Amino acid sequence: MQWTNDLSAGVEQIDSQHKELIARINTLLDAMKQGRGRAEVGQTMSFLGDYVVSHFGEEEKYMSSFCYPEIDGHKAAHKAFVSDFRQLTKGINNGEANSLTAIQVQHHVCDWLVNHICKTDKALGSYLKSRL
Ligand SMILES: [Fe+2]
Repeated sequence: MQWTNDLSAGVEQIDSQHKELIARINTLLDAMKQGRGRAEVGQTMSFLGDYVVSHFGEEEKYMSSFCYPEIDGHKAAHKAFVSDFRQLTKGINNGEANSLTAIQVQHHVCDWLVNHICKTDKALGSYLKSRL
């Protein structure tokens, strides 16, 4: 996964967290593709999960501080992702770290994130830019 200007939400702090998120996802995908041990994949996954939660929290702080009108829908999208991600983590911790789970990560994590950044976060970014 690569960060490009197309993914910019226009707010520096959010962009730099998205870059960090992509770097962590790449570390996870590398660990899976190289068939590293389940423990290492699980650890990378939980590291990524913690980062996702704190990043979503930052975005949500912005939303409430600036009375963002789409806050409910945006928060619901975050919540659904976190619950999906936890399911995936559980599966991996139970021994399902194989090429199929790598594909699931690609689909549930990478594709979701690109789509979320391009639509939902960009909309938030434009709103914040108009207020900041
Ligand atoms: Fe978001």
